[in-house]
Amino acid sequence: MLEDGKLYIGTSRKPDDSVDKGEYLDLGFANRHGLITGATGTGKTVTLQILAEGFSNAGVPVFCADVKGDLSGIAAMGEYKDFLEKRATTIGLDPYEFQEFPVIFWDLFGDKGHRVRTTLTEMGPLLLARLMDMTDAQEGVLNIAFKIADEGGLTLLDLKDLQAMLSYMGEHSKELSSTYGNVSKQSIGAIQRDLLVLEQQGAEKFFGEPALKISDMMRTTPDGRGAISVLAADKLMMNPRLYGTFLLWLLSELFEELPEVGDPDKPRLVFFFDEAHLLFDEAPKVLVERVEQVVRLIRSKGVGVYFVTQNPLDVPESVLSQLGNRIQHALRAYTPREQKAVKTAAETFRPNPDFDCFEAITKLGVGEALVSTLESKGVPSIVQRTLIRPPSSRLGPLKDGERRNTMDLSPVAGVYDEDLDRNSAFEILRKRAEDAAKAEEERRRREEEDDEELQESRRWTLPGFGDPDDDDDDDYDDRGRKRSSRRKRPRRRRSGSRRQSVAEAAMKSAARSVASSLGRALVRGILGSLKKGL
Ligand SMILES: Nc1ncnc2c1ncn2[C@@H]1O[C@H](COP(=O)(O)OP(=O)(O)O)[C@@H](O)[C@H]1O
Ligand SMILES: [Mg+2]
Repeated sequence: MLEDGKLYIGTSRKPDDSVDKGEYLDLGFANRHGLITGATGTGKTVTLQILAEGFSNAGVPVFCADVKGDLSGIAAMGEYKDFLEKRATTIGLDPYEFQEFPVIFWDLFGDKGHRVRTTLTEMGPLLLARLMDMTDAQEGVLNIAFKIADEGGLTLLDLKDLQAMLSYMGEHSKELSSTYGNVSKQSIGAIQRDLLVLEQQGAEKFFGEPALKISDMMRTTPDGRGAISVLAADKLMMNPRLYGTFLLWLLSELFEELPEVGDPDKPRLVFFFDEAHLLFDEAPKVLVERVEQVVRLIRSKGVGVYFVTQNPLDVPESVLSQLGNRIQHALRAYTPREQKAVKTAAETFRPNPDFDCFEAITKLGVGEALVSTLESKGVPSIVQRTLIRPPSSRLGPLKDGERRNTMDLSPVAGVYDEDLDRNSAFEILRKRAEDAAKAEEERRRREEEDDEELQESRRWTLPGFGDPDDDDDDDYDDRGRKRSSRRKRPRRRRSGSRRQSVAEAAMKSAARSVASSLGRALVRGILGSLKKGL
């Protein structure tokens, strides 16, 4: 039943419902992506679980999000349950063995897993604009902020770096507009307010260092099993945009960092994108196009992407057509929209003369699905009604203590726990402002001394003639030192033009570093995240 180079999904049924043959996913075509669809409660998560198990056993690392918390059991040994045993017997899975899997838990908020962070510089303006649902004008300003930062060596690590950058831009909107195009104060203000909202939603935890190293998601155990990275996403789902953007960022990181490998005999990583509709909901056309591009190109980097969602219509056609391996659980077909979804799903399969796909989709039982995978030469197999195998790991969640234990024993325990706050735009701009303020004070002091000397020398040359506004009152200088009553502090023009403002100084030094760093500006990839190794 378990074959080399293939992952056992379940067993198909004949027209009379008796079991037919094993259905497999060929590891050689597993990087041709996949789709798991079906209504709530029809068995999508369990299917994801058995696929993750199969990949892990084949030495392929897996990334998946745990949207409802019910996937965490994959880290624990399976437990005897009547209905699981029954399914195993029906499909001839003998022996049905229990197994626990090497899991690394991740969590943007750091509660249910190791912290996952990235820097704003690494994420880039395209995804950030999406995350903050920006208008075109705001996105324009954000692009300029990244351009100035990228060119000028101002690293944007966290949200306060971007805030500092935006304040700086607000102070120089005029000068910047002449160089970069319209930098409106209004858009800057809007972005700054959105950043505060983002912060309140807890997103600031996600931006900073130490940033996630992709290699930590691609581990294998000493006995050759692929690590399963499980992202705790229950809390994250309250901020669907952050969830979608995060997964997209991860995908683009993989894409930018991994080398080309062509079509390997098994994937280097399999990425499950659960609740995939959140990625595409209201997504601007340009983003959908980029996602389509990444999905198409990431295949030759040996990464298989599997979208999990209720309805195949949730995934844009251009992406859908690239998903070669399909597992369709039951869908209802009452409303016209539902009927359309079932029709779409039915039509994408290579037909089976034994049954009508449309009808079959509406009649599938729980844990049963229409399955078609890519076979030799990459041709889709004839669709089969398939009883999905029961998992070897636990069905349902881990207990808190068990999760803690897994985290303590994880190969990345302690690596991502503490925040690191290295010198970045916020500190650099602040330091520049402070330096500029000091320089300004120094300059003023000198000017004052010069003035005083001048006064003094005048007294020498014109004895007896005092300043017209001179009086005998005591006077104090800037530092509170008492001045001689005869030498009143001279009137000075406190003109804005002579005085170099703090911001001006910061601006100048930013411009200097722009000039000095031309030619080593950062390079961004398809989804705007940073290209590495350049
Ligand atoms: N392959 C399967 N074998 C046995 N039981 C299954 C299988 N798939 C699903 N089930 C049962 O159906 C329930 C719901 O499945 P689940 O995967 O959570 O649905 P979904 O993710 O589509 O909402 C599971 O808790 C389990 O009891
Ligand atoms: Mg589910």
